[in-house]
Parts: sequence; structure tokens; C-alpha cells
Amino acid sequence: MNTQQFIPHSLQRKLEIFSCTWKTPSNIALVKYWGKTAPQIPKNASISFTLSKSHTITTINFTPKDTSATEEIDFELFFEGKKKEDFKPKIAKFFDRIQEYCPYLFSYNMMISSENSFPHSSGIASSASGMSAIAMCLMSLERSLSNTEISDEFVNKKASFLARLGSGSASRSIEGPLVVWGNHLAIEGSSDLFGVPFPYKVHEVFNNYQDAILLVDKGEKQVSSTVGHDLMHNHPFATQRFQQANENLATITDILQQGDIDLFINLVESEALSLHAMMLTSSPYFILMKPNTLEIINAIWRFRKDTGSKLCFTLDAGANVHVLYPEHESENVLQFIDNELSMFCQKNHYICDSVGLGAVKL
Ligand code: DP6
Repeated sequence: MNTQQFIPHSLQRKLEIFSCTWKTPSNIALVKYWGKTAPQIPKNASISFTLSKSHTITTINFTPKDTSATEEIDFELFFEGKKKEDFKPKIAKFFDRIQEYCPYLFSYNMMISSENSFPHSSGIASSASGMSAIAMCLMSLERSLSNTEISDEFVNKKASFLARLGSGSASRSIEGPLVVWGNHLAIEGSSDLFGVPFPYKVHEVFNNYQDAILLVDKGEKQVSSTVGHDLMHNHPFATQRFQQANENLATITDILQQGDIDLFINLVESEALSLHAMMLTSSPYFILMKPNTLEIINAIWRFRKDTGSKLCFTLDAGANVHVLYPEHESENVLQFIDNELSMFCQKNHYICDSVGLGAVKL
């Protein structure tokens, strides 16, 4: 695999402070990534909708170090205005993994300040938006240091490559509205190293698709994604699962172009339940859904049967439910959520999001 292309060659050394701010989104997978090998190589390809409202805003101030102190990568981390020591190890590991591709990391003291649009510990994964925001800031610095012109296309590709090394799903949080990560025959240009925008024309029924995120459980997850991915090694159904996901990716590639929403519903819900089935059948086994997750799923199925609505659900590695639906159904679906689903959310709380276009420089 060609990782050499991400090692910069002609960089200047600058003595001024450099600062930049990026807003990058979260994403919700339709075909899920669950299982990987080092270094952050997915066992199957995945595809996600990029979100628009659920995002992280990160500013990094890069202050040049004096040349004698360039052995370590030095950074401070502030989250929502407060120093955040407990997030530091994950970011230190991330910097460690990318140092070969970002040698300039050693030349600066970095002050990283981040905030999320979604409430802290809402159970919404912040690693995708958080890591992609840092990656975009690093690419802004790289651009300013480079002696050669760097295209936007390369910035996005390398940012996705870097973000992946922080958190796999973060590779899908640079562009939008649909991003594929993982090498797959049906997707031209796809790669295990970075996400690529879905390269074919998408049917208009999927334009501005809506995602209401129902916050069933805002607490800390009992089992992290990292542990979950690990449990796919020696999992009795691993081979079948990776094959199923890759087949689903081929199928959804057609569905997205043809606009068959019934097939879309079927595939997306099956993916969500297959992901959780992997958790139920790993050793040790675990359950991330809560009773209210199932209440919501059953209510969605009932509503679809009674009204012919095209809403469907998906889940990430937690108890929250993402309700996906076409924009023209917004009024009816939001009424349904208020009347019949919000009671299953903590403090009746849900977030109305929709598909977005990716990272924005502020
Ligand atoms: C269930 O990207 O959080 O959301 O690479 O270990 O950081 P790491 O895992 P992460 O896993 C996401 C898993 C998922 C499915 C998906 O987003 O595809």
C-alpha cells in the first residue's frame, strides 16, 4: 500500500506562530466498520452519511520550539475551555502514529482547543469529528510550510488518512455527503488507507436525508469501540460478517443510485442489527442496547406498517437510535418522535441532524 505519498519532502522551517480553526462533522455508518488489523486497516469496507449539525470545532495554536527541544511531541489540550488530561493519551497515541507523516509535529508546541456541538457524554461518538478536526488543522499547517503547491484533493485525502490513524470512522468525517472507507471492487478509487466520497450519482430521494439522533443513554459505554473491534479477532462469525458487509456495500452502491428506498431500509436496519449481533456473540459477550432502544425500534416498525412512512433506524456502538428519513417526511416523522419516541430518550432529548458536506475552515 502506498503510504509513501503521505510523507512530505519539501518543508520550510517557520519561526512564526501559526493558528487555524476547523469545524468537522460526525458521521453515521450505513454499512458498518467493526473489526480491524494494525495499523487501523478495516476488515471490511464501510459507508456513511456525513452529518451537518453534530460537529467538533478545533483550534490549534502552533508555537515554534527552539531547535534543541525537538525530541518530543508537546501539546496541551483544552476541551470546552477546560484542561482535559484524560483525553490526552488517545491524542498522544494518535500523534505517535502519524509522526512519520507529519515530522513538523516535533517543531511546535501545540495548544489544542476543542468543543462539540452535541452535549458532552451524549453517547454520540466524538472521536470521528474530534480526530478529523485535528487532522485538518495539521494539513493547514503542512500547507503553510510546504514549498510546493498542495491541492485541496490531496489535503482531504491526507487528512482522511491521518484521521483514520486516530479513529477509523474519522476517515469518513472529512468530506460528504456519502463517504466510503475500505478497499472495495464496486467503488472506484476506494482504499483501506483513507475515505473517498461516494463516486457515483446518488438518486434524489437521498438528497438532504434527515437523521434524528435519539439520546437513549448518555452514559459512558461499558465496552469501548476499541475493545469491540478487538473481539472480532477469533470471533466465530467474523469471516461471514466481513463478507456480509462487503456484499452489503456492493448492494447499497446500486440502491443509492437507483433510489430504491425499501431496499435501503432493509439493508440499513439489517446492518445495525448485525453489528449488535457481533457484540452479542463475541467472547466475552456484551449488550450495548438498552430496553428503550428496543422500544424505539418496535415503535418505528409499527409506525412504518401503519403509515407507509419510509423512516428507518440505525445504531452505532451504543444505545442511541439514529432515525433516518427523507426530508419531505420531516413534519410527520418529527411529530411521531415527539409523541411516541422522545419518552424513551433521557430527558426526552433528541438531536435533529441531516446529511452534510464535510469539514469547513473557520
Ligand atoms: C460502530 O471508529 O470508533 O461506529 O478505529 O477503534 O477508533 P476506532 O473505532 P471507531 O469505530 C466505529 C464503529 C462503529 C461503526 C462505524 O462507524 O462504521
